[in-house]
Amino acid sequence: MKGLILSGGKGTRLYPLTYTRAKQLIPVANKPVLVRVIEAIRDAGVREIGIVVGYTAPEIREALGDGSRWEVSLTYIHQASPDGLAHAVRISRAFLADDPFVMFLGDNVIEDGISKLISDFAENKWNSQIVLKEVDNPSAYGVAQLRPDGRIERLIEKPEFPPSNLALVGIYMFDQHVFDAVDAIRPSARGEYEITDAIQWLIDHGHTVYPHIHRGWWIDTGKPTDMLEANSLVLEEIAPCLDDSAAVDSRSTVDSRVTLQAGARIVNSILRGPTVIGQDTVIENSYIGPFTSIYHSCQIRNCEIERSIILENSRVTDIDRTLRDSLIGRNATVKRSAEKPSGIKMNLGDHSTLWV
Ligand code: G1P
Repeated sequence: MKGLILSGGKGTRLYPLTYTRAKQLIPVANKPVLVRVIEAIRDAGVREIGIVVGYTAPEIREALGDGSRWEVSLTYIHQASPDGLAHAVRISRAFLADDPFVMFLGDNVIEDGISKLISDFAENKWNSQIVLKEVDNPSAYGVAQLRPDGRIERLIEKPEFPPSNLALVGIYMFDQHVFDAVDAIRPSARGEYEITDAIQWLIDHGHTVYPHIHRGWWIDTGKPTDMLEANSLVLEEIAPCLDDSAAVDSRSTVDSRVTLQAGARIVNSILRGPTVIGQDTVIENSYIGPFTSIYHSCQIRNCEIERSIILENSRVTDIDRTLRDSLIGRNATVKRSAEKPSGIKMNLGDHSTLWV
């Protein structure tokens, strides 16, 4: 069994963060989503992983290297233009050869990993296995219509009038028959070779596609609200840990669900978990509330923050209202200004949103 991670795409719904950063490298609970995907595949016993990359290839390579840090071997496969998930499979054929494989979209986060899915696929004679999840907004996804006996009737990509609320999760398992399918299909209305159409082709040509219905949570981290939701869910799951080199002074209160990474320093502050404070980050005279992830080398002084993600090297100081439900990028500064005339002042990136 091999793994195939798709990590191309522009991440336009996460602008401005994704102007300067591949969306799959944005951390959830202080770990890039892409690393979570690699670990999920590795924990299911798959070590040979291909990673399809587009124009963000250099920074993805820099972040992941050859994969040895996670005890996997990574092969980079370049997709010159974002022509769809089925196209990504087609260009990965030399790497995949005739081995069965699991394809995992690099921006998906799923509860409980994929070990059971992989072992079910290995034990059965299915040509493909897909994962479905009930959602409130099926039009945003590929959607499955099932027959009364539980088999798949049909699959449709982002239907205007969804026949069910079962969305296709971005995790798929295939054997070599998928290559016939990806060669046969035509581009969709949005101009992409859709994996949904390739799976429909497998069904139409008598191949077995097993639909697994996932009962845990699943997030496709396309939008800021999805990132915050994924952050909360993952923080709930992780076992908290205090690094030996983290320092908490006697005036601070840090509850048992807080994770402090190496060199984090907490001064005269209250921290309520689940929350994670990154390496060499300083929190001073502040309250950090539940469901917050503050990444490496940040400085937070005289503020209150709840249910937010702050990326590396950012400073948030002297804010007199609670900062909540916020996503703050790298090297950002949020501070109080004492200058006159008073008012709100900002240097805001393209496609940013500020709620005042
Ligand atoms: C893709 C697939 C879609 C699936 C979704 C899951 O959508 O085309 O069928 O439901 O991933 O994340 P995209 O992210 O390309 O809009």
